[in-house]
Amino acid sequence: MAPGTRPTSPYLASGFYDRALAAGRHRDIVGGRWDETARAQMACLSAEGMQPQHRLLDIGCGALRLGHKAVALLDPGHYWGTDASLALMRRGWEAELSPDLQSRLPLPQLVEDAGFAFPGLPADFDFAIAFGVFTHLPAAMLRPALTNLRHHLRSQGKLLLTVFLCPEGHAGRLAQPDGVVTHSDRPPWHRPASAIAEDAAVTGFSCAWRDRQLPRGQRLCVLSLA
Ligand SMILES: C[S@@+](CC[C@H](N)C(=O)[O-])C[C@H]1O[C@@H](n2cnc3c(N)ncnc32)[C@H](O)[C@@H]1O
Repeated sequence: MAPGTRPTSPYLASGFYDRALAAGRHRDIVGGRWDETARAQMACLSAEGMQPQHRLLDIGCGALRLGHKAVALLDPGHYWGTDASLALMRRGWEAELSPDLQSRLPLPQLVEDAGFAFPGLPADFDFAIAFGVFTHLPAAMLRPALTNLRHHLRSQGKLLLTVFLCPEGHAGRLAQPDGVVTHSDRPPWHRPASAIAEDAAVTGFSCAWRDRQLPRGQRLCVLSLA
């Protein structure tokens, strides 16, 4: 990246993970609000029908904010996480999981994957969730991720995706209900609902919006294979 250029994602800033992890800030990297956000994610998954026997893929799972609760609920070995930073996931595993929970989440099930390619992951996930991930990434990254994800979901599988929404045709900044200011040209990014629906349709998903209050005013879209 050229000096002075603003990254398209805060996570792409040079040395971001190394500096924050060295300072012991693995919870801050994923946005803090640890218990509240973990509970909100578990409530979303539960409302969509997730039960212990299901398999969950946590895309952009970070320091296991959701993971520390989902691993406790799911049968051993049924949680997988991906993230751009293996070091971040491993720090979460060490710091946030008790030995009992560590034994339920084998380390190879935390997979470094910055390109949403899902390398080596199973093909039979019942649920996937990308919470607060694409909110930080340029719009163009969603479509290829959905295309790749299709190969890893059961036919009845669902993806829970959070985004920031803006009205159709909105240009510039926007204050979300929780006070976060989002943008159309830099992170955190907002998009109109029609753009999400189009990405879903083009990649073979149907998408349904849920009226659920989420941290920072994110909106929940549930994508199912069409
Ligand atoms: C706001 S945090 C949310 C983490 C987690 N989903 C949660 O709710 O706790 C965003 C996460 O996306 C990850 N991330 C950013 N860019 C990514 C990419 N290109 N591929 C995979 N993960 C990415 C970051 O490392 C970070 O863990």
